Amino acid sequence: MLTLGIETSCDETAVAIVADGVTVRSNVIGSQIERHRPYGGVVPEVAARAHLELLVPTIDRALVEAGATYDDLDAVAVASGPGLVGALLVGVSAAKGIALAHDRDLIGVNHLEGHVCAAQLELGRLPRPLVALVVSGGHTALLLLDAQGRMRELGATIDDAAGEAYDKIARFLGLGYPGGPEIDRLSLSGDAEAIAFPRAMLDEGGFDFSLSGLKTAVVRELRRREAAGREVPVADVAASFQEAIVDVQVAKTLAAAEAHDVGDVLVVGGVAANSRLRERMRQACEATDRRLLLPSPALCTDNGAMIAAAGANRLADGQRSELGLSADAGLALDGLVLPDLPEAWR
Ligand code: KG4
Ligand code: ZN
Repeated sequence: MLTLGIETSCDETAVAIVADGVTVRSNVIGSQIERHRPYGGVVPEVAARAHLELLVPTIDRALVEAGATYDDLDAVAVASGPGLVGALLVGVSAAKGIALAHDRDLIGVNHLEGHVCAAQLELGRLPRPLVALVVSGGHTALLLLDAQGRMRELGATIDDAAGEAYDKIARFLGLGYPGGPEIDRLSLSGDAEAIAFPRAMLDEGGFDFSLSGLKTAVVRELRRREAAGREVPVADVAASFQEAIVDVQVAKTLAAAEAHDVGDVLVVGGVAANSRLRERMRQACEATDRRLLLPSPALCTDNGAMIAAAGANRLADGQRSELGLSADAGLALDGLVLPDLPEAWR
């Protein structure tokens, strides 16, 4: 079964073709990074207009790279939320147009469900129960996929998403956009113990996260040093900031796995590409005898293949969306049931 996956929830125009929910035939990203770079962040209106311009050529490239035509496709899957509403609308409208024009099945999926399902493209069927940390530019969520496949949100950020904090601090430090990869790279040459930044809600707050205090602490520390005429060691600040974020992410994820007696841990979303988070999560899971599922960085950041994978599971389960499908900027994840990967595709 060939599924076309369309992802336009934020700043990547991404399209992929996936066979039987697990085999990537093509995975193309029409990046908008250069268009948002002058603003140091994603501008929603710019993103929506860029999707409009980039989507059709990106679909064409995905078809060519997969050696397929519209006739070969069985279905179209699209991220219908959460995300920027104008951006989502472009993908949803295109998916509906293709489904109608070529008489193909249509399925709308949750963007975060897509991030979780990205793992099946490399690792096959996701074990259940499973604790998943989803960390991206727009979201920080700690999820429990229970034995029945139901998603339960154990915790989420009460202010900034992880990627958002990386991007804001990077901008403050005068680094490029997107900031996450810049801080990751710079941290390799910095001392992570140089500055003791706060680990917010580490021991309290259940499984919720907060990053605004850390952000303020970084800004205050830099201003203090500047006022005192002291040099600002940017690599040390980056490494110390990153370590503070990673400490909390690892501790809360492991605590959730412990509390729910779960042996499998999944980390996904753009920030899961962070090398320090990957390293620390590997160590922590090894030390507690847990299995860590960690897709390669290219499948952690937004892509169309994860949407096709999530959609294929739903289609195989007999689900379809109507042509009345609409974009939902606040589409909820809590309580969503994820159909298991069918036997035939394992
Ligand atoms: O999942 P994603 O591609 O898009 C959203 O759904 O938001 O995540 C993008 C976010 C950006 O904030 C980016 O700075 C961050 O992921 N990111 C990273 C790294 N690579 C991407 N953050 C930390 N370290 C990285 N290596
Ligand atoms: Zn995402």
